[in-house]
Amino acid sequence: NDPLRLGIAGLGTVGTGVVRIIRQKAALLSARAGRPVTISAVSARSRGKDRGVKLDDYAWEDDPVALAQRDDVDVFVELMGGHDGPAKDATEAAIAAGKDVVTANKALLAHHGHALALAAEDAGRVIRFEAAVAGGIPVIKALTEGLAGNDITRVMGVMNGTCNYILTRMQSAGLPYEEVFQEASDLGYLEADPQLDVGGIDAAHKLSLLAAIAFGTQVDFSAVQMEGIGAITIQDINHAADMGYRIKLLGVAQMTGRGLEQRMTPCLVPAASPLGQLEGGTNMVVLEGDNVEQIVLRGPGAGMGPTASAVMGDVMDIARGFRLPVFGQPAAGLEHAQAAGGSTP
Ligand code: NAP
Ligand code: HSE
Repeated sequence: NDPLRLGIAGLGTVGTGVVRIIRQKAALLSARAGRPVTISAVSARSRGKDRGVKLDDYAWEDDPVALAQRDDVDVFVELMGGHDGPAKDATEAAIAAGKDVVTANKALLAHHGHALALAAEDAGRVIRFEAAVAGGIPVIKALTEGLAGNDITRVMGVMNGTCNYILTRMQSAGLPYEEVFQEASDLGYLEADPQLDVGGIDAAHKLSLLAAIAFGTQVDFSAVQMEGIGAITIQDINHAADMGYRIKLLGVAQMTGRGLEQRMTPCLVPAASPLGQLEGGTNMVVLEGDNVEQIVLRGPGAGMGPTASAVMGDVMDIARGFRLPVFGQPAAGLEHAQAAGGSTP
């Protein structure tokens, strides 16, 4: 069978994780997909950097747009980050060149997800982004596949590993903010701009994507009511603990009589509850549907292995021919949601 050939743009925490999996598990992936999964070409900013993985088997492109347009690339894997600039340009170029796209980039999708999904559908291509929400937890698959027979009534959870890591390490280890921030950085959890993490923006990006998938609306990041953890002090954390609570950056999306409500804010949760006991970079997503009542998904929300695992789940779907669009299915649904003003008025 013909191989599925990848072009990978971005060789940082997530990109090198994907290269590692493909190199280490080539036979397993090929057996599971029924065809080899190979890398044709890669791209990053600095060609000479030692990334701890062997890259000289692959062609190099300085320009991610050129990578996206290569004839020997079937799937463009965007792992650079940023909601405009090279990530957007190269993703658009890939779709225009007839490639499928896999990305971990929640910022890109929160800002341009609707337009990119429509462009992909017009071109007969798919854009998949499991890794963009809750790291290694297959929450998008759960919503689009396993829960397809439900009306989703609410989506909530802890969706930023950095914030959960900082809040829990400050409380349980009694460490200062600067030290736990550095630990999160060493674990590969942080966005290139960490203000996206601590400002609640990254988690809000994720919530807006889950909400659009769950409720069949357009992604509406600008409507998320959002507050980060920047103003929370160790005294706040300790006072909460004394009262039997933990502080969590908690997101909630639900459809109300006034439209879609999306909130990502620090909240007090009982220390003994599953959310209260969530430690470190772990994420928890709670999905509520009319038939299942409540499903709770818990797992690593950031870092190399978990995020690369989610990227590979999407790659494997495409290799196997599973080409379900993720946002509103089909595009007519998207237009309907748009016409209905399907988010917060
Ligand atoms: P990272 O470690 O900072 O890596 C980014 C990579 O992109 C680097 O290899 C960088 O090149 C390359 N790059 C940046 N700008 C470029 C440009 N203009 N042209 C070519 N290459 C460029 O980031 P990461 O943590 O892997 O995250 C990548 C994406 O995954 C982001 O969208 C992030 O939000 C998302 N994500 C990350 C995690 C996580 O836990 N880290 C989890 C889920 C999703 P150089 O190495 O040469 O500088
Ligand atoms: N910076 C993100 C986090 C990476 O800490 O959750 C995973 O999306």
